[in-house]
Amino acid sequence: MVQEIVIYPDKRLKLISKEVTEFNEELHTLLNDMFDTMLSKKGVGLAAIQIGVPQRVLIINLPEDDSEDAVFNKEETLEIINPIFTSKEGACKHQEGCLSIPGVYEDIERAEHIVLEYQDRYGEKHIIDNHDFLAIALQHEIDHLDGKVFIEKLSFIKRKKFEKEWKKRLK
Ligand code: CO
Repeated sequence: MVQEIVIYPDKRLKLISKEVTEFNEELHTLLNDMFDTMLSKKGVGLAAIQIGVPQRVLIINLPEDDSEDAVFNKEETLEIINPIFTSKEGACKHQEGCLSIPGVYEDIERAEHIVLEYQDRYGEKHIIDNHDFLAIALQHEIDHLDGKVFIEKLSFIKRKKFEKEWKKRLK
C-alpha cells in the first residue's frame, strides 16, 4: 500500500533508526509498502523512516536505463536490512535527489567503493561489494537510517541558499 512520504524538515528524518530483530510478516508488509510508495513516486531508493518507520530498512531499485518508461521490477529491488559498511574507500561526486526533498538535486561527495554487510527479509546475511551508482545510493539511504539527509553535506553557502528556497516552496 502506498504510504505518505515524510517531507523535509519533518523531525522524524532526524531519528536514528533501530535495528530489526524480527524478520516477520510485519517486516514484509513494511517492505511491500515501501516498494509501492517508491514506485508511485518513481524513486530509486527509500528508507523506512521516509514513510515514518524508524527501522534499519531500505530498498533500492536502479532502473536499467534512464528512459521515462524504464521498468521497475519488484524482483530486482534490493531489500536491505541492518546494513553495516565494512569498507568505504576513495571519493567521487554524483548528483543526488531525495523523495523527502522533492525537486532538489545536488552534487554530493561520497566514498567511491563500498563493502556492505546486510540481511534480507528472511534474516539471511549477504555482502555487496560495489563501486558504481549502487554504492552512492546505498550511502544516501543508510544516511537516512542515521538521521541524516543529503543536503547536510552541502557547503555552508549552498545549504543557506537551499533552506531559503525550500522555505519559499513550502509556503
Ligand atoms: Co533520500
